[in-house]
Amino acid sequence: MTLDQLNPPTRLLMGPGPINADPRVARATASALTGQFDPWMTATMNETMGLYRSVFSTANEQTFLVDGTSRAAIEAALVSLVSPGQTVLVAVMGRFGLLLKEIAERAGAQVVTIERPWGTVFTLDEIEEGLRTHRPDVFATVQGDTATTMNQPLDGLGQLCHRYGALCYVDATASVAGNTLLVDEWGLDVVSAGLQKCLGGPSGSAPITISERAREVISSRRHVEAGITEGAEGLGERIRSNYLDLAMLMDYWGPRRLNHHTESGPMLYAARECARIIADEGIANTVERHRLHGAAMAAGLAGLGLELFGDQTHRMNNVIGVKIPDDVGGDALRAALLEDFAIEIGTSFGPLAGVVWRVGVMGYNARRDAVLTTLAALEAELRRFGHPTPAGGGLTAAMSYYQEQES
Ligand SMILES: Cc1ncc(COP(=O)(O)O)c(C=O)c1O
Repeated sequence: MTLDQLNPPTRLLMGPGPINADPRVARATASALTGQFDPWMTATMNETMGLYRSVFSTANEQTFLVDGTSRAAIEAALVSLVSPGQTVLVAVMGRFGLLLKEIAERAGAQVVTIERPWGTVFTLDEIEEGLRTHRPDVFATVQGDTATTMNQPLDGLGQLCHRYGALCYVDATASVAGNTLLVDEWGLDVVSAGLQKCLGGPSGSAPITISERAREVISSRRHVEAGITEGAEGLGERIRSNYLDLAMLMDYWGPRRLNHHTESGPMLYAARECARIIADEGIANTVERHRLHGAAMAAGLAGLGLELFGDQTHRMNNVIGVKIPDDVGGDALRAALLEDFAIEIGTSFGPLAGVVWRVGVMGYNARRDAVLTTLAALEAELRRFGHPTPAGGGLTAAMSYYQEQES
């Protein structure tokens, strides 16, 4: 059988991720491969570690990539931090909090949760109450829960967790670079991400950063894989995953360069280019760009007469939820948007499936033309589906917002 050359359609990806990779990132992935111990390759790995320290606003030496999608780093963090039987407290305000709960359970933890209705966030006092009651070894939360579009405030969270003797893990997959994230200032111990949202790359690489406090805990469970170096080394309870063993990954990315997996050249190049572009722009400017275009999109969606979902004072800059009007089939309209305009937006999960659409404005697509094109297309489809909407309401509101911000 002969197949045609691969030729995917060109879409404008305005959902909750993945987004269109920045062309510079896409080009980087096509660069030549080198051996994983080639000095050029190891130097590039070191450069990438440095670039991600800036993205995460941290001085953590242990800042590197986990090969895999974002949940690989979540799983690496939890399986490496938590010994079976230890207590993990998870703050659940949406689907991705539930993912943390599941992963911690699979790591053998005793998992307890505090919960909030989807579309809201926790106060620090509520988290403190949970810490006081449950005295966990690890507290885990999501910064931006993409399922609900909410951005959990984290200022002071690490210091709070430490007062109660807990380490603090944060999933920043969807929020990093689109919302302020100050790992060191906020005392966060382990934070992980993925490329396919505000970082502007394809999925498949998961940056992670690890504080000294967390490194000590992970290193206390360090075992070197048999046959790698002379002499057996091993401490504490062995981490229950080989691929996601952060102690071994630290030895792989660190000066010892102990062999582990074969680092993916194209994903390393992609991750490096994502962070290089942000370093060029300046991380604070990247966050501000997401705020500007996300707010213009929110203004435009409201201008179309749509109701925004969730507590807008805590909305992520980069994902906007809107209630699907009762007179419109949400999935049918999304399919038409894809068919007619090659634009993708998302719905959500669980209780919000078919109830809200989620529009993402992130990474390479956090741009004025992408925002305006999406609003124009959405208006056309709303009309086609018989939903009354003010003529030009979305574009007018978004353009006025841009004008206000410029004056
Ligand atoms: C907040 C959050 N965490 C985790 C994930 C899982 O990421 P991945 O699909 O890259 O494994 C996602 C994906 O959308 C996400 O938005």
